[in-house]
Amino acid sequence: MSSSSAIRFAAIGCGNAGTARICALAGHELGLKVVAGADLVEANLDNLASRLGYSFKHYVGEQAYLQMLDENELDAVGIFTPHIPHYEHVLAAMKKGLHVIIEKPMVCGAANALEVTRLMRESGKVGIIHYQRHYEAKFAKARELIQKGLIGEVKRFFIYMAQDWPGRTWRAEPEYSGGGQINDSGSHYLDILLWMLDVLPRSAEGHCDSFYNGKRGKVEFNGSFNVELENGAAGRVVFLADIPGGFVDDVRIIGSKGNLFFQGDRLIHYDAEKDAYHDMPTSLAKNYPSSPSDNFVKLLKNKVRINRVPFIFGCRVALLTEAMLRSAAQGGEKILCADILKESGHGMQDLLES
Ligand SMILES: NC(=O)c1ccc[n+]([C@@H]2O[C@H](COP(=O)([O-])OP(=O)(O)OC[C@H]3O[C@@H](n4cnc5c(N)ncnc54)[C@H](O)[C@@H]3O)[C@@H](O)[C@H]2O)c1
Repeated sequence: MSSSSAIRFAAIGCGNAGTARICALAGHELGLKVVAGADLVEANLDNLASRLGYSFKHYVGEQAYLQMLDENELDAVGIFTPHIPHYEHVLAAMKKGLHVIIEKPMVCGAANALEVTRLMRESGKVGIIHYQRHYEAKFAKARELIQKGLIGEVKRFFIYMAQDWPGRTWRAEPEYSGGGQINDSGSHYLDILLWMLDVLPRSAEGHCDSFYNGKRGKVEFNGSFNVELENGAAGRVVFLADIPGGFVDDVRIIGSKGNLFFQGDRLIHYDAEKDAYHDMPTSLAKNYPSSPSDNFVKLLKNKVRINRVPFIFGCRVALLTEAMLRSAAQGGEKILCADILKESGHGMQDLLES
């Protein structure tokens, strides 16, 4: 792509997250022009146009995105729709040979995720997932330090995330949500675990319920799981969806030589040998993009070479999510990730390439 012309961009799904992402992309200094947008609700497209300060072609209706992809000369597409339809939307975008930025979770189910990842790799285009924690200094630094061996061999981990997640509209419908809160906000936490440790999931066992403030819903709200990773590390993942007040999380990684904790923007190191805690400096490396949108535009304009959230990370999360959801559906039975992969003729080696 020429460095002087603006990226010709269209969006599928212009709701809350879509509008924020599209405005960030359109405001990028290297130039991106929104040519067209598809949504179920015309008012969402009007709102986006007013936020952008210019008009673009509107496509309204469930299948209107197909017409949009047919009719417009595009370089890239953004997918910001509910979870289950991500799959058909990304397939359609890739069929047109377009670069793709897609909201989390990339697509639901390990087999779908691996298919989409293979097609994206074969297309030679950029596919990036909007996991913004890859651009947060504390997580990026922790990944670097874990990989340099600061805390030795990772043995255990603990992940807790709790929020008031009412699961309204499509999030409350199994055919759109694909796994309730476990697959929604939970997706971010499974991702940073696997990304920071750079390891594949081995198994999951645990339980979910669909209770929100004492009322039963149709999707998974709360869950508690034991998760094992391929390097032998094991830990607990707890997601709660109906606590009052704001969002809370707690991520702890326990190694043979020390631990890492996250508090707000702080990254805290426990040095086991010295029996001492201290804050680690957490600046991002020079040229590290500030967000998935920044990374996407810079990749398309050849200003950076590294995609910090390629589709393979979406596969790893999809696999662990599927193992957790299956275990919960089967009364807490231990589910091996390798068994899930076998069903679609895949193996762990398919999750290694990035
Ligand atoms: N990265 C994050 O922190 C973060 C935060 C919020 C949401 N998200 C993700 O963003 C995505 C959208 O979530 P949201 O909160 O913006 O939901 P939303 O309901 O506000 O937006 C979804 C939009 O998609 C539209 N849509 C549905 N089906 C469509 C179709 N077939 N064609 C075109 N448009 C269609 C809807 O009309 C709606 O405007 C989800 O994947 C969600 O997980 C990510």
